[in-house]
Amino acid sequence: MTERLRPVVLLAALGLACRPAPVQSMLDPAGPAAARLVDLWWFLLAATGIPTVITLAVIGWALRRRRRGTIGEPARLDLWIIALAGGVIPAGLLLTMLVFSFRVGADTAAPPGEPALDIEVVGHQFWWEVRYPEQDVITANEIHIPVGEPVRIQLRSADVIHSFWVPKLHGKTDLVPGHVNTMWLQADRAGVFRGQCAEFCGVQHALMAFLVVAEPRADFDAWLVRQARPAEEPTDALRRRGREVYFALGCAACHHIKGVTPPLASQATGPDLTHLASRRTLAAATVENNRGNLGGWLVNPQAIKPGNRMPPSMMASADLHALIAFLEALE
Ligand code: CUA
Repeated sequence: MTERLRPVVLLAALGLACRPAPVQSMLDPAGPAAARLVDLWWFLLAATGIPTVITLAVIGWALRRRRRGTIGEPARLDLWIIALAGGVIPAGLLLTMLVFSFRVGADTAAPPGEPALDIEVVGHQFWWEVRYPEQDVITANEIHIPVGEPVRIQLRSADVIHSFWVPKLHGKTDLVPGHVNTMWLQADRAGVFRGQCAEFCGVQHALMAFLVVAEPRADFDAWLVRQARPAEEPTDALRRRGREVYFALGCAACHHIKGVTPPLASQATGPDLTHLASRRTLAAATVENNRGNLGGWLVNPQAIKPGNRMPPSMMASADLHALIAFLEALE
């Protein structure tokens, strides 16, 4: 490879490495709002990209002429070209972009139909509390919705400004302390779509993610019924021991488990654990929810996500096994 080509190849490699993961690429929309937004994205790319390429080509051509000494004083025609290419065309393009943006904004502001249900999402440093108030369901970092039906989402913040963004389903909406913002989501096909906090909110902003699970109505209804149930009583000695460890370590001060812990105001500090084992991820979609990650998270959460609010816990390995068994049964 010649020396001159190396920066181009490096830039291309960087571009490929930085391309959005398929699970959250807004270029692959899965709902009506995102489909509209991607139209705008392609239009803006063309409306800015094509003039940029033409401008660079003209500059290159002029530089060549200048090097050859064939450029003279501007003629009358040149002044017309400057007025057209430097004033009229850019003004027309900017106006078209403005009108198109307003139209897409108006098209995506309201859902296509009456929302099928209400969901509340509360942003915390650095995780998402998810509530289905009519069904008395509280979960975290995983929002289930029925396919093909719009849902209304009310957004609040418990601390600083966050921003709710599921690129495959809709644009961003901020979560502002002391204020409720409302937006909607609709998925036209079943799937798991990753969402991400899109407003810098502190040291773990980048790992404040969540999943939207869109599933057929029957599966969604069954999920909602399971999530509304209280946690089941531990069925064996190991899990009963795990529950004792849970209380002894003080986990109940921050985490609620419906049917196990009495509700405390402080429990909003950490995610509700009633159906922890049913969730796909831990620590706001930072790691997969499996035994190894759960154990690591319980002992030293700061190693997995430095700066999160969960303190480390020193415990005997037998206690850790019991605590994991107790939490793994919270399905
Ligand atoms: Cu929350 Cu960034």
